[in-house]
Amino acid sequence: MTDSVTGFAPASIGNVAVGFDVLGLALSGVGDRVSVRRIEGDQVVVEEVLGLDGEPHPYLSKSTDQNTASIAAKALWDEHGRGGLGLTVHKGVPLQSGMGSSAASAVAAVVATNGLLPEPLPTAALLPFALEGERYASGGLHADNVAPSLLGGLVLCPEALLPHTVRLPGPDGVSAVLLHPELQVNTAHARRLLRKGVTQAQWIEQQGYLAGFVAACYSGDVALIGRTLRDVIIEPQRAGNVSCFDAVSRAAEGAGALGVSLSGSGPSIFALCPASKATNLATAMEQACRGEGIDCQSWVSDMNAPGAYVET
Ligand code: HSE
Repeated sequence: MTDSVTGFAPASIGNVAVGFDVLGLALSGVGDRVSVRRIEGDQVVVEEVLGLDGEPHPYLSKSTDQNTASIAAKALWDEHGRGGLGLTVHKGVPLQSGMGSSAASAVAAVVATNGLLPEPLPTAALLPFALEGERYASGGLHADNVAPSLLGGLVLCPEALLPHTVRLPGPDGVSAVLLHPELQVNTAHARRLLRKGVTQAQWIEQQGYLAGFVAACYSGDVALIGRTLRDVIIEPQRAGNVSCFDAVSRAAEGAGALGVSLSGSGPSIFALCPASKATNLATAMEQACRGEGIDCQSWVSDMNAPGAYVET
């Protein structure tokens, strides 16, 4: 019987501009790892939370009911596991970055925990358990980070359809560039600040963009992606919290972006672009961010980046 399993889950871009709370994209090259092992007793405990440097993480809690990894793992283990479970969380995704950090921990935890079950569940069936962690972190039930982190690629995940989700085809030849400025935005707080109402005109315009974007993905119409990757409701309320947003957006547009917006609630900023322009575009975004006096890091990702997996 296996006694320990490690799961990896990628970071993700929530909202993808057009689909507030209902659309998310997995990122390659950055994610969290969670190792789980059987322990004596019948408790689920967090044994260690480590940062990228391998040292104990300075901010994240080791209380089982205050860490998204253990909340998600416990939800799954209580229903399907037996005995005690110890978790070690290796954070790779920066906190409060708009890169789905809490979701990546929750997803890596359930994928690893699943590997210790007598009868592991299919990957998609892990979604509700991972969402329990996200609910704790952001104070709402939205799957736009958890679903792409678990399943990979571009995922349509409206609450009305959950636990069902729809994997959209990422158009060939399009890349995502994500820039993380060294700033922090608390998602739960950013959500509380949002206006609750929208005008009918905003609603009609935004649902037009979302429908057009989904159609563009299926038809592979890159020009249509450029016309539809817009957020007329949420981004205008949040962009002001990210001081480099205007400069970075202008740089991305000047370097050939199809569209630019906040990743999740920010501060990260993403662009979709023709794959051939992605490296230059990332450089332009980084230069613009540093020009505003803010250090940063960027990643270039395929639109069909893999989701979470068990490391062997
Ligand atoms: N869709 C959510 C929001 C989560 O924008 O508040 C972002 O990661």
